[in-house]
Amino acid sequence: MSTRSPLVRGMRDLYADELASIRSVESVFGDRLESYGYELIRLPTMERTALFTRGIGESTDAVSKEMFTLDDETDSLSLRPEGTASCVRAVIDANMYRGNQPKLWYAGSMFRHERPQLGRYREFFQVGAEAFGFDGPDVDAELIRIVQDVWEILDIADEITLEINSLGNATSRRRHRNALVEYLAQFNDQLDEDSQRRLDQNPLRILDSKNDRTQKILEQAPSISDYLDDESRNHFEEFQERLERFGIKASVNTHLVRGLDYYTHAVFEWNTDKLGAQKQVGGGGRYDGLCELLGGVPCPAAGFAIGIDRVALLRNELGIASPTSHPDVYVIALSDEEDDFALDVAAKLRTESSLKVRVHQGGGKVKARMRAADRSGAAIALIIGAQEAASNHVSLKWLRINREQVTVPVTELPTTLLNSN
Ligand code: HAM
Repeated sequence: MSTRSPLVRGMRDLYADELASIRSVESVFGDRLESYGYELIRLPTMERTALFTRGIGESTDAVSKEMFTLDDETDSLSLRPEGTASCVRAVIDANMYRGNQPKLWYAGSMFRHERPQLGRYREFFQVGAEAFGFDGPDVDAELIRIVQDVWEILDIADEITLEINSLGNATSRRRHRNALVEYLAQFNDQLDEDSQRRLDQNPLRILDSKNDRTQKILEQAPSISDYLDDESRNHFEEFQERLERFGIKASVNTHLVRGLDYYTHAVFEWNTDKLGAQKQVGGGGRYDGLCELLGGVPCPAAGFAIGIDRVALLRNELGIASPTSHPDVYVIALSDEEDDFALDVAAKLRTESSLKVRVHQGGGKVKARMRAADRSGAAIALIIGAQEAASNHVSLKWLRINREQVTVPVTELPTTLLNSN
């Protein structure tokens, strides 16, 4: 029997350039969110299952089909399928909303037991943001603007489209739901199986159906836009006007309902057609009733989450260079005599630049040392022999491009390296 324990399906080891790319997307989101005054919150990976069934909705796919659940001594616990419910719980637990309007962001692993494929994993990474205590569409529009800023910084704005819709307030939703159920009930036996099941539990989700026959039936279905009351309509119109003022293009998709039950008013989704079946890179919306539903005081709120694995994949797909994980510079002393000098040169470089500097260890012949430099992925080897050490110089050998080796004084090294590509 093999003693090796294979990786669990849908889980990944992330390292090297793939990880560097995911981390850089995460850090651009974090920096941008902080520049808008959002504060980082670290949330636990596991919560009581009841938080998700109540908060996200018992009949949603994320909760009913995709949760990793285990029984603890007294409670059923689940790995979080998303961050919004936990964030709301944290705000309620710490009373953060009292006299304050917290704007929070988080990043981390989420878990959904889906069928793994490119861009769809059982453990994946989200960056999310949630704003509490504001009921105006200015907050919704700001959330969209933050994400738009990031698409531009990451150079992918042209590849991403934004869809929006309004689900209205509770009254509008109820009226629309009743009309939809009444309409669809006439076609009950023609709907796909999932949709038949949803007709009782979660009829809005039928709008998401990928089944052609169901889609055909939906063409004539009552549209939420016809059921919005004045308050909901004004909210949505102001949201759209603000997006327009920001120069952000969005198309209204009246079938957009999102897969989680907590939404009210504006919902949004960012999509790309560059990742095959996994079109959705992010989504969000307003969830004015969730705080109260989870036992807090009523508190309007809105937020979004981005699937950063997908954003990193998209950049990769487009051939956009991301930072790499390997060292920039590999320092080689040609013999033990030059070791201390080499360590001093490396230390100086680390202090005076942000370059990643690895020093050769483990001895070996000159050829073996050069091979190690090559394998490290570094762009440049700094070679230090007796002559260089004696005259306070180093030799630079470019490992990835054809360029003549040069010898420069150590004092000029940081500038030479920074201007070297
Ligand atoms: P969501 O649309 O369920 O929203 O997920 C957000 C993003 O997570 C998706 O758009 C997608 O990019 C990514 N994602 C979801 N499942 C997977 C998977 N299996 N593998 C890779 N990426 C995945 C939410 O989670 C809400 N909490 C968003 C929100 C925040 N609404 C209000 N505030």
